[in-house]
Amino acid sequence: PERRKLIAGNWKMNGLHAAGLELATDLSKRLAAAGTVGFDMLVCPPATLIHPVAQAVAGTPLAVGGQDCHVKPSGAHTGDISAAMLVDAGCAFVIVGHSERRQNHGEDDALVAAKAAAAHAAGLIAIICVGETLEQREAGQALDVVASQVAGSIPSRADAANTVIAYEPVWAIGTGKTATSADVAEVHAHVRATLAGRIGDPDAVRILYGGSVKPSNAAELMAVDHVDGALVGGASLIADDFWGIAETC
Ligand code: G3H
Repeated sequence: PERRKLIAGNWKMNGLHAAGLELATDLSKRLAAAGTVGFDMLVCPPATLIHPVAQAVAGTPLAVGGQDCHVKPSGAHTGDISAAMLVDAGCAFVIVGHSERRQNHGEDDALVAAKAAAAHAAGLIAIICVGETLEQREAGQALDVVASQVAGSIPSRADAANTVIAYEPVWAIGTGKTATSADVAEVHAHVRATLAGRIGDPDAVRILYGGSVKPSNAAELMAVDHVDGALVGGASLIADDFWGIAETC
């Protein structure tokens, strides 16, 4: 099936009000000016900016997402944000299981699956992140680790309409090191095979690549089989760079 590319920006813990609004507004204007494009575009601002950004780009094709959500819809969970709150603030997507959450907040596959299920229950599209560490890659375990994360992090009732997978080799995030096209092709094909039997309409699920994607390497990466878009960190903070990545689709 035809899988429309998704270019997603993860702003992580970056962006104060004025700069965040300027970036999002700039992107939404470029989208409007471009007319028909071959990609969907998403920005995931820090929680404090979700609502103002969503309001600023309302009515344009630029989608807004959260970077994480809690498994519960409400309750005594200081500092957390629920999927329903993200929807209320204007989100259509949420990233779950990013390696920075897995590493710095001790999130495991079961928790990531529960977060994705909470996202689905609230009507959000979950972007489920997976990826091996350098140590695991050097030990020849990349494919097994990624397959096991995919299998463990997909909740029941997941399908191509409510779930996106993002493959992000941990050693390529924010390091300037990008996986080779051959490595990306191998992992993405393995993820696609792993989805079979575990998700509705597996061939229609979008699988993003993430890890030091920039305008200069995007064309090559986006041309790889089973690469259906990018999850972009650093380069998503610069309108020209993020737009340049999207334009390769
Ligand atoms: O979510 C985005 C990824 O962690 C990639 O970050 O593009 O800065 O390497 P990066």
